[in-house]
Amino acid sequence: MPPRILVANNALDHGRITCDAFLDVIFQSSTPPSVVLPTGNTPLPFYAELRARLRTRQAKIDFQFLQLDEYMGCAPHSETLFSKWIAREVLDPLHIADRFTFNSAADPSEEVARIRAHMASLPSIDLVVLGIGQNGHIGLLEPGTDFNCAASLVEMAESTWAANCAYWGQDIPRSAVTLGFQELRKAQHTFMLALGTSKAEALYRAFYGDVTPDCPASYLQSMDNVTIIADRDALSLFPV
Ligand code: GLP
Repeated sequence: MPPRILVANNALDHGRITCDAFLDVIFQSSTPPSVVLPTGNTPLPFYAELRARLRTRQAKIDFQFLQLDEYMGCAPHSETLFSKWIAREVLDPLHIADRFTFNSAADPSEEVARIRAHMASLPSIDLVVLGIGQNGHIGLLEPGTDFNCAASLVEMAESTWAANCAYWGQDIPRSAVTLGFQELRKAQHTFMLALGTSKAEALYRAFYGDVTPDCPASYLQSMDNVTIIADRDALSLFPV
């Protein structure tokens, strides 16, 4: 099944379109759906829109949050944690209580085992929302990762690490835990978010290139119910 493509005119519009698509999935479910949400700059307009809509609507939005990735080796109260980022942007403002988050300070192999066991206990994931790295990574699944891998301890590629340090204005650990393809393929719906020309090549390789571990996002070509939500710059290499 080819992906659905939703075209945004700018970042604000991207936030609105993503929010509409997200709420469609959330409200389809009679019980709180399970949702993986990413960090990064791309989803920020979406999260801002979600917070704005909540202030004006009566309906309560509820879901079970599943973390996508996290640096390893940070102290529990460190500010440089993806779990803190997503809590601040989405989970706290929306009062989402059901959170499966990763423990950066835990023993990495025990944490990976805990994550794998929890994710294996879920028959499916209702919605996985992803961004894309310029090298085609999703979550922190870097180029070269086997498509059969489950949640794992990984070393970030140099460019990913540099981009991540830029979020915080300081060095962050080089190792991280991330969901693997075994978990991501449980998604009933997958959203791929992209903004800007810097993502155009990666997005093109993901959906028009070979399905290869060299471009982890190309795995999405093998999945159903994928929605690309992107602006015209990110889609500029797609055939018209
Ligand atoms: C980071 C995150 C990914 C994110 C990607 C793109 O490394 N681990 O989940 O999707 O890079 O980030 P941005 O949206 O800031 O470009």
